[in-house]
Order: sequence, then structure tokens, then C-alpha cells
Amino acid sequence: MSDDLQINTGTKEEQYKTLLPQIFAIIDGEPDLTANLANITAALKEQFGWLWVGFYLVKDNELVLAPFQGPVACTRIKKGRGVCGTAWANAKTLIIPDVEKFAGHIACSSLSKSEIVLPIIKNEKVVGVLDVDSELLNHFDKIDAVNLQRIIEAIIL
Ligand code: SME
Repeated sequence: MSDDLQINTGTKEEQYKTLLPQIFAIIDGEPDLTANLANITAALKEQFGWLWVGFYLVKDNELVLAPFQGPVACTRIKKGRGVCGTAWANAKTLIIPDVEKFAGHIACSSLSKSEIVLPIIKNEKVVGVLDVDSELLNHFDKIDAVNLQRIIEAIIL
């Protein structure tokens, strides 16, 4: 059987609908967190072509860069700093239509124009975030929030 990802060229909802079962199949039964996070970022990047998609994990009270796809990024982010650190502090998903209008946004790449960050919550504690950046303004919406949340819930930490 081929490991190639099946890419969908339909609407955003259709793209997630094809992609999610494939991601679940890839991580199903695999206990290694790094391997699963790496494959999730690769699958998302391949389907959507976003500028940057990756994880930060909480270590020693900082967000530390974890598997990602895209340009090199900031290695460590403190709680409450930038979009990622704010999503962590508030334990809430943040959709930022225009990163220049978010006070304190951390510009890892000058190409990033909009962003979505979802906290990963285990036992009522934020243990990491999933961060996605786009070169287009206003690129993310509820459809992304709902579907990326489904992916997060499938990750076993
Ligand atoms: N823009 C993020 C930093 C992480 S990079 O985008 C990969 C922030 O403001 O937290």
C-alpha cells in the first residue's frame, strides 16, 4: 500500500474531510509523540500549503519549538507573549486575521499575515499549542478551528 497522502482540491471543508481520517490512520497505534506531531505537520502542509504549521510544547514554563513545516522559527516563547503565548495563558484558540494588528505578535517570518493558534489541553493544563501561519490576510476561520481541534484531540500526549 502506498503511503502517499490523498490530496483534495475542493472546498476547505472537503479538504479537511479527506485529510482528517488519513491523519488519524497515520497516528493510530503509534505511541511516539515526536513522530506523530511530525507527520501531522507534514500532512497539513502538504494539503493546505500554509506558510508555517507546527507545534510548540510547554517545557520548564516556556513554549519550546517542536515538529513543524516551514521556515525556521523562534525557538522559545514565554507565557503571555505573542499569539502563541497568549493562547497558552488564556487556554483559548486565537484566530488573528491580521497579525500586524495583534499587539505583541512575534514575527518569526515577515511573510506571515494571519495566524491561528490552538492550545493543547490535557488534564485542564495547556501542554502545548498548534500554530499555523499564512501569507494571506484573514485566512483562518471557524472551519479551521473546529477541524484542527479534532486533530489535537487525537494526539496522545
Ligand atoms: N507568531 C507567533 C510566533 C510563532 S511563529 O509564527 C512560528 C506568535 O506571535 O506567537
